[in-house]
Amino acid sequence: GFPAEVRIVEVGPRDGLQNEKTDIGTAAKIELIDRLSRTGLRSIEATAFVSPKWVPQMADAAQVLAGIHRDPAIAYPVLVPNEQGYERARAAGAQEVAVFTAASEAFNLKNTNATIDQSLERFRPVLERAAADGVRVRGYVSTVLGCPYQGAVPLADVVRVSRSLHAMGCYEISLGDTIGIGTPEKARAMLKAVAAEVPMPALAIHFHDTYGQALANVLACLEQGVAVVDSAVSGAGGCPYAKGASGNVASEDVVYMLHGLGIRTGIDLDALAGTGRWLAGLLGRETGSKAGKALAAQ
Ligand code: HMG
Ligand code: MG
Repeated sequence: GFPAEVRIVEVGPRDGLQNEKTDIGTAAKIELIDRLSRTGLRSIEATAFVSPKWVPQMADAAQVLAGIHRDPAIAYPVLVPNEQGYERARAAGAQEVAVFTAASEAFNLKNTNATIDQSLERFRPVLERAAADGVRVRGYVSTVLGCPYQGAVPLADVVRVSRSLHAMGCYEISLGDTIGIGTPEKARAMLKAVAAEVPMPALAIHFHDTYGQALANVLACLEQGVAVVDSAVSGAGGCPYAKGASGNVASEDVVYMLHGLGIRTGIDLDALAGTGRWLAGLLGRETGSKAGKALAAQ
């Protein structure tokens, strides 16, 4: 059955902005996060301490993290690909980090220049230092419903990588449909297979909306009992190492659906939708959220 409450992990400032052509600038990134902090969100992924040569959009990670007004009730995780990223993140005051790998070797090589097992080895010292520092670590698995380079991804690979991240100490595993290729029954079967090895409360779903399936896939997984959903305000973004992938499912659309289902989020939908339209304005387009558009017309 459906969970009574869902935690939204807002990934717009990171997943959204990492792949936008328009650079809104450091001050606007900080304002975006501060606005999001006033909507009732409890988790906001703020930025990524990755190589600026690989993702120039995230080169100002330290300034962004230093500039935001941190609400003590909100977690502001940041992406780190390796120990160097962890050090940069900690120097900038990060209290939560997220490591990321994939279920597909081909994708992981393109995204991080490492095999899956090499990436897990890179995470080991990060997890050890984080445990000693009292820093929480989230783990991402990309390409859980298909890979732009490899094609089909065996469920056994998704399960193996998810289990490894969980066993290494990640408190939550976020299952990414990086290229938004999945459909509801496939999403449900994938979640079920992973939940047989990693407890459901430690799982999150992270669906991109390339084929317009993300909201349907979220619903299918809510029916399985998942209670953490990643989404991006205004549906911004994509992945720079997954050609053609569009943004995450829009947070406003997910929240509208959850509230309609009677599921609590603690989020003020009007405030969130207003933030989405404000961001879309900076990006020079209409909001990518249908709910955000509809609410503006009222
Ligand atoms: P590499 O080139 O193999 O790294 O990249 P290296 O260790 O050989 O170092 C090369 C240079 O990078 C050195 O500098 C390092 O200092 C520097 P140089 O000596 O040449 O001047 N470097 C760094 N600089 C800053 N911060 C760091 C860092 N690490 C090394 N942390 C690396 C390997 C992993 C670093 C690179 O591939 C990388 O940064 N990849 C990140 C790509 C990325 O951010 N992708 C998008 C995020 S993942 C995603 O969107 C999917 C997700 O949303 C889920 C889903 O949708 O599926 C999470
Ligand atoms: Mg993503």
